[in-house]
Amino acid sequence: KGESTLSITVVGASGDLAKKKIFPALFALYYEGCLPQDFSVFGYARTKLTHDELREMISGTLTCRIDQRENCVDKMDQFLKRCFYHSGQYNSEEDFAELNTKLKEKEAGKLSNRLYYLSIPPNIFVDVVRCASLRASSVSGWTRIIVEKPFGRDSESSGELTRCLKQYLTEEQIFRIDHYLGKELVENLSVLRFSNLVFEPLWSRNYIRNVQLIFSEDFGTEGRGGYFDQYGIIRDIMQNHLLQILALFAMETPVSLDAEDIRSEKVKVLRSMKPLLLENVIVGQYKEHSKGGKAYPGYTDDPTVPNHSLTPTFAAAAMFINNARWDGVPFLMKAGKALHTRGAEIRVQFRHVPGNLYKKNFATDLDKTTNELVIRVQPDEGIYLRINNKVPGLGMRLDRSDLNLLYRSRYPREIPDAYERLLLDAIEGERRLFIRSDELDAAWDLFTPALKELEQKKIIPELYPYGSRGPVGAHYLASKYNVRWGDLE
Ligand code: BG6
Repeated sequence: KGESTLSITVVGASGDLAKKKIFPALFALYYEGCLPQDFSVFGYARTKLTHDELREMISGTLTCRIDQRENCVDKMDQFLKRCFYHSGQYNSEEDFAELNTKLKEKEAGKLSNRLYYLSIPPNIFVDVVRCASLRASSVSGWTRIIVEKPFGRDSESSGELTRCLKQYLTEEQIFRIDHYLGKELVENLSVLRFSNLVFEPLWSRNYIRNVQLIFSEDFGTEGRGGYFDQYGIIRDIMQNHLLQILALFAMETPVSLDAEDIRSEKVKVLRSMKPLLLENVIVGQYKEHSKGGKAYPGYTDDPTVPNHSLTPTFAAAAMFINNARWDGVPFLMKAGKALHTRGAEIRVQFRHVPGNLYKKNFATDLDKTTNELVIRVQPDEGIYLRINNKVPGLGMRLDRSDLNLLYRSRYPREIPDAYERLLLDAIEGERRLFIRSDELDAAWDLFTPALKELEQKKIIPELYPYGSRGPVGAHYLASKYNVRWGDLE
């Protein structure tokens, strides 16, 4: 703080992500007093806009949380006064040089730090970092760049992107976002494991039968079909969001909470995994469905999607970790769009109680009586542990009940958006929640062979109606490993 100044440049300022997530998160940080005293925000994009037009555009997206209502409107005005705009091409050195001059005026000889958020398609990342000469920038403090997936389509293209970026940037400058790592419950995963005696001793093949990572959205690719069709659900959700959760879930205890220690443990667990086999993945695609008099379009009805697209909008996969802790335990992932509900959960199913004295006293079949730990990432964040309990009364009947930590009752304040935490960390130089390049490589190595085979063999996705629970194939896959999917609550 003091005599230093921070400029945050959002490249791609008129795009959806910038409007929906980045500017609102920056404002929330400003409201909380988390930004340095002296800061400015620059929007950069091709559209011609004045500073006021940018402010107008942003102002419609800013909101105050329930606990941030005081002086909210004044704060918004003050924040907007710090927002500026510069229009330019993404591949023009001159345009970026002009931006640089404007940044320098604001920095006025102070110790200056710069954060660039590249909220643009990855095929122009390299143009931008080259034209903006971000490595050699004449800044007296640090220059950091936030980039967001997709980082390529497979191991080769991702490796190529990394090599190109590294011509212009050092690894320390690159902050690769996976916004799931900024979600409260995902961050809490390590706290749950490593600060409670009751979980860690059970965290292995000795007690855990299977682990399920489930992502479900109740809407289709509306408006994003063009992007989505090039990637599909495995690249959009599994290879990053779900795999990152898996790595945090399964890693060994890190030496410390230091970013490098944590990321090294995550890489280790990813490298201990076997690449996904085609026989362990099933794919689906949603089709048109009418419900309650309303017609919901199928994936290929989207005008930006080719009529005969085979791109999966649903996938289920079984993966395994080849190490002493997890040998033989299926890690099942399921991700889909246009399903019956929206939610993301981690479900841990424990083994049966050996020689259970009470097996006769259960009303349900024994398979449904095993303990289960559920971490609900969203919505309605919570953690609950399913235990067996005696139903009160004179008889001896057991049922399954929950020890339930519901965030909205226990912590009745709004949870900050993931982008707030991640932006703050990038400003503070905290890399724990960002993806290191070796992590990214390891993640692609796990999915690339199956992705290629799916495409080469033109595997036809199983169709499922919009708003349904997805293809039945997911159940066959799970039953191959004696697993029954938990239902999103
Ligand atoms: C993005 C995907 O990374 O995550 C989208 O590209 C998906 O397809 C989104 O909708 C889900 O994020 P959240 O935070 O709304 O669960």
